[in-house]
Amino acid sequence: MKPMFATLLLSLLAQAAPAVSAPPDPLKSGKQVYNEVCFACHKTGVAHAPKFGNKADWAPLIEEGQAILTAHAWVGVRAMPAKGGKPELKLSEFARAVAYMASESGGNWKDPDADMMHKIRKEAEERLEKSIKEMQAMKKELHRMNEEDD
Ligand code: HEC
Repeated sequence: MKPMFATLLLSLLAQAAPAVSAPPDPLKSGKQVYNEVCFACHKTGVAHAPKFGNKADWAPLIEEGQAILTAHAWVGVRAMPAKGGKPELKLSEFARAVAYMASESGGNWKDPDADMMHKIRKEAEERLEKSIKEMQAMKKELHRMNEEDD
């Protein structure tokens, strides 16, 4: 290869490199999701939502661990609506928002990596299975009551 051509090729590769090594992040950041969705309740503590930045509120939640807390919040727990009440929100984006809130409230959680996402999905699946079983038991009970009424 002629030296001039090699230099040209190298400079072209150098120009192309940044686009290859740093693809734009297709997911919203945890901070973005918090500001768009979660803040509505978590900023002031609507219905006893754990307040953003309040270490006392968050300490016992952080204790539960990232996979469990994220999964349970996503499925919905007590007054916390499933998916933060935003059906189109991706689980990975929701998980980032939880990590952001926990980290700003005394924890040190990172955006979940593939391994953490796997654990969150598994825990959410188990939680949903449990809810489905409880609902089915309730349906059976309802049918029994209907028969007794007849
Ligand atoms: C409509 C109000 C509302 C919105 C919006 C909301 N939350 Fe909540 N959240 C709550 C309430 C209320 C609780 C407390 C539930 C309880 O313990 O009764 C809660 C609890 C939680 C918890 C703790 C769950 C647990 O296991 O105790 C997490 C984590 C959480 N929210 C994350 C989020 C994230 C992330 C978002 C945004 C994507 C969000 N929330 C949006 C009301 C809300």
